[in-house]
Amino acid sequence: MSISLLRTIRSTVVICSFPKIMASRQSSDMPKFREALRSAKEIVVLSGAGISAESGIPTFRGAGGLWRTYEAASLATPGAFRSNPSLVWEFYHYRREVAAKAQPNAGHLAIAEYEARHGADKKITVITQNVDGLHARAGTNDLIELHGNLFKTRCTKCKEVLANNDSPICEALAGRGAPDLNVRGSDIPISSLPHCQKAECGGLLRPHIVWFGENLNPAVLEKAKTAMSTCDVCLVVGTSSVVYPAAMFAPEAAARGAIVAEFNLEPTPATSEFHFYFQGPCGTTLPQALAE
Ligand SMILES: NC(=O)c1ccc[n+]([C@@H]2O[C@H](COP(=O)([O-])OP(=O)(O)OC[C@H]3O[C@@H](n4cnc5c(N)ncnc54)[C@H](O)[C@@H]3O)[C@@H](O)[C@H]2O)c1
Ligand SMILES: [Zn+2]
Repeated sequence: MSISLLRTIRSTVVICSFPKIMASRQSSDMPKFREALRSAKEIVVLSGAGISAESGIPTFRGAGGLWRTYEAASLATPGAFRSNPSLVWEFYHYRREVAAKAQPNAGHLAIAEYEARHGADKKITVITQNVDGLHARAGTNDLIELHGNLFKTRCTKCKEVLANNDSPICEALAGRGAPDLNVRGSDIPISSLPHCQKAECGGLLRPHIVWFGENLNPAVLEKAKTAMSTCDVCLVVGTSSVVYPAAMFAPEAAARGAIVAEFNLEPTPATSEFHFYFQGPCGTTLPQALAE
């Protein structure tokens, strides 16, 4: 641990003293983490697909990472949409239907309830890589959706972004999107896919999602970076910490002296950078960490 890290820890109101943190690097001491949380004035929860796994929404890595014979992440690209918009819309139609039927779980609710209890005396921000809308449905108010939202569309021509909860999003997608391995191909004509309703435009709509290889919205990224750069405590929940730029947020916060706690089923490439590591399903570990 560097001298500057020591200095930063001492300048914050976090209770853990430097020697304790040295001794408890990657500690799983829940009472000690809760002590740090009590002293914190600014808290960030950085979440990934793992927080929604217990709501039945597949993650991209691990058992749920395949849709038909495709790796899910390979369909979340501008190239896939260009070469087969019908296939990519079927994939997103499937994901919208799964997310719409899912319910926020104990992990989402613990975060929203913590904000409701402490939002008046602490700044509590949730930065999520998820696009399923479950944090908002759980009641989280201060929410930054880094990668967009399944229930928003963007016109490829006029760029208008609109909320859209229709099910199905267009007639041609009704009954489509089955994830089964034996379903092959996708042949919906482009003219039957969702289109911009503005008479003067009529462009093809796409999901308002930041796909792999695309840039994050600069204003959204800036807001997230600001929250990350001032927080005293950060909870990193259910993310494999391999998708940038979000993957560097928590290691950077830890390096400048914020107390970072990771909640995951298994260690990630970033685990060794953090102070606390709580292994297990976050639907169980988060309510413990955030309880009174
Ligand atoms: N729910 C969603 O909105 C959703 C779903 C899949 C993918 N994505 C997108 O795909 C990208 C994937 O990156 P990522 O890091 O978010 O997810 P990821 O799929 O790469 O990793 C998921 C992580 O969650 C952990 N995990 C799984 N179940 C867990 C549980 N019950 N409790 C705690 N941890 C658990 C896994 O060990 C893994 O480290 C992101 O850009 C995201 O936008 C979003
Ligand atoms: Zn348009």
